[in-house]
Amino acid sequence: MLEETLILFRNIRNPDYDKSLKGYKKAGGLKALKQALEMQPDEIVQLTKDSGLRGRGGAGFPTGLKWSFMAKDTGKPTYLVCNADESEPGTCKDRELMLHDPHQFLEGMMISCLAIGCRHGYIYVRGEYWPSIKSLNAALQELYDDGILGKKLLGKGPKLDLTVHPGAGAYICGEETALLDSIEGKRGHPRVKPPFPAVSGFNACPTTVNNVETLTCLPFIVNEGAEAFKAFGPENNAGPHLISLSGHVNKPGVYEVRLDANLKDIIYDFGGGIPNGKQLKGVIPGGASSSVLTADEIDVTYSFDALAQAGTMMGSAAIMVFDEDTDVVKLLHRIVRFFSHESCGQCTPCREGTHWARMIIRDFLNGNGNEHKLKRLHRVGGNMMGTTVCALGDACGMPIQSFTTKFADEFRDVQALAA
Ligand SMILES: Cc1cc2nc3c(=O)[nH]c(=O)nc-3n(C[C@H](O)[C@H](O)[C@H](O)COP(=O)(O)O)c2cc1C
Ligand code: SF4
Repeated sequence: MLEETLILFRNIRNPDYDKSLKGYKKAGGLKALKQALEMQPDEIVQLTKDSGLRGRGGAGFPTGLKWSFMAKDTGKPTYLVCNADESEPGTCKDRELMLHDPHQFLEGMMISCLAIGCRHGYIYVRGEYWPSIKSLNAALQELYDDGILGKKLLGKGPKLDLTVHPGAGAYICGEETALLDSIEGKRGHPRVKPPFPAVSGFNACPTTVNNVETLTCLPFIVNEGAEAFKAFGPENNAGPHLISLSGHVNKPGVYEVRLDANLKDIIYDFGGGIPNGKQLKGVIPGGASSSVLTADEIDVTYSFDALAQAGTMMGSAAIMVFDEDTDVVKLLHRIVRFFSHESCGQCTPCREGTHWARMIIRDFLNGNGNEHKLKRLHRVGGNMMGTTVCALGDACGMPIQSFTTKFADEFRDVQALAA
């Protein structure tokens, strides 16, 4: 039987936990920040590299390595921007951290600011997350009132300010360069790269964008060391990870898992299996952008590398489960409709492709599908991948290609039923 690791959720799972600054300190909080203040920035970067921490925002990029790309000696300020947009369908883990243990996340953010020499960090929070925005602002006020943030970090370190910036509810503003445009007051359009944010990011200054959960791992890494963090997963897949489990499971929720847990066990142990004794039909393992797995493909380790080997991805670790009664054509239509609506429209393959795909799937639902349209749908999905400015094209192409391959017969059945 799988059990939660309780590293990031250590406080949240404690029913007596008081999330105020006083309560956080009582639970051992801020020790890591004090320790980080005694370290050189390069030491924190090296420790993070050694820990094997990979970004929790979707791409799984090594965090310490990303920090080491920051342009040095430019004469410009450097920025850390936290991506709290959490807009990938099915994902709700960052919300838990910001809402129920804001100080652990903010401690991680302060340590990360020290690592990259940032003196003013921004937290870009999804527009709909008002309770999280309120929780973060209250926690920041406590840090300023206590003299932890402001002119001297912890009363003896460098100046550090943190600002919460609410978004306006656009999925594309979770893409890091669109997010930076949005903070700058522009329309959120992904930028053509290079230059990457590490060279020219917020206000054309060196910038790192990191996810909330990524930054929340830092207090544990500094307190317990790189080896302790690595112990929570197989080689190259370090640390505990928060998963958002939803759909047809008896116990949906956010759970903290080791990265050597099995996906099947996650669904049946944490999720309590499929309601009403139904059979499993499939699983979307890493948010709407990831390739679907059929019921007989779920006996796989839930790690970055094992999922990639299985032809899908960890993404934002949002696991969406669907049972035998689910109409997968309708399901794919729902996913593609989302991407079509959220496309910013600047690249033709994405702007047109998401729309065409939506129209073709609608044809199937209306009884106007055929074998030729099934092939065309598959091809339109493929043509969006790797041909666009940002990864939204791939995000829509992957479900299209995997659903039309693995559930091709269901498209034929729905057509036969509708005709
Ligand atoms: C369309 C799109 C939406 C994204 N949405 C989010 C998001 O909501 N939250 C997030 O952390 N990363 C999101 N990302 C990934 C970010 O661009 C970026 O890689 C991430 O914030 C980096 O943080 P990490 O290195 O800590 O993972 C999105 C990417 C794309 C292409
Ligand atoms: S892929 Fe889509 S969302 Fe991304 S930049 Fe191009 S049009 Fe915009």
